[in-house]
Amino acid sequence: MSVEVIKPPDAMQRFAEAARVRGERIALVPTMGFLHEGHLALMREGRRRASLLVVSLFVNPTQFGPGEDFTRYPRAFEQDLAMMAAEAVDVVFAPEADAMYAPGAQTFVQVTGLTRGLCGRSRPGHFRGVTTVVAKLFNIVKPHVALFGEKDFQQLRAIQRMVIDLNFPIEIVPVPIVREANGLAMSSRNAYLAGDERERALALSSALRAARERYASGARSSDDIAATAAKVLKETPGVEIDYVEAVDAETLAPSPSPEHPILLAIAARVGKTRLIDNTVLKP
Ligand code: PAJ
Repeated sequence: MSVEVIKPPDAMQRFAEAARVRGERIALVPTMGFLHEGHLALMREGRRRASLLVVSLFVNPTQFGPGEDFTRYPRAFEQDLAMMAAEAVDVVFAPEADAMYAPGAQTFVQVTGLTRGLCGRSRPGHFRGVTTVVAKLFNIVKPHVALFGEKDFQQLRAIQRMVIDLNFPIEIVPVPIVREANGLAMSSRNAYLAGDERERALALSSALRAARERYASGARSSDDIAATAAKVLKETPGVEIDYVEAVDAETLAPSPSPEHPILLAIAARVGKTRLIDNTVLKP
């Protein structure tokens, strides 16, 4: 089984339109490639929910800040193709950057409140790049359903908000975080971890586990929960906290409503690599 690769956005758009006319139900899994089991979980969920499974593979320049890892972001197109063929992906949409962003492009999609805190604070412009490219992907691939990982929880919330606010007729399906057996959340950026950094990176999932236990034993104050996680991170040498926050899992507001689950979210640098992880706490 080989996967059909479509590069030009207008060709993808024509393909999608024709598929809709034939009565296909289209699922889209947006990715930046260098695929791992987390991405595959999204594809499997998409495969179950649609007759035509499209994966987009595009390292989106507009969501990387100056000095971030855009140029060295890991790429492995042939290996990705083989993995997608094994998941019975129908079409890979892999546009060139200058075809996605025509010279003079000046239109952006920005979700405001939800993107202010957490990663929005340390990565200004990041979510604007994400919601803009995802809106473009939605207009090009015309999916009925699109799948996003809870690994990037704030991204998922921003996209859910965008779909409501801009009337995209698309069902957004969240997929739980896929972890290695040792607890490390799968990420393309784990490829940057060298030597003992992989071991140190386990501090993120250990911190979440400690906080889950604290929650299970009755703690409800967000400061208490965040402090429990922060303590584990601070005990690990070579791990530098960007943020550890317990927020409202619906609104991402700093003080969780007692009726809503709590999102405990971590961003930390292990050596030069910035990693994120999170867990949702509910009674
Ligand atoms: P990327 O980091 O490649 O992730 C693609 C999708 O896979 C996202 O929805 C992400 O949340 C999900 N994912 C990554 N690691 C996961 C894990 N361990 N478990 C479950 N899901 C996981 O996120 C992006 O690309 C980009 O921002 C994108 C949405 C493609 C826009 O450019």
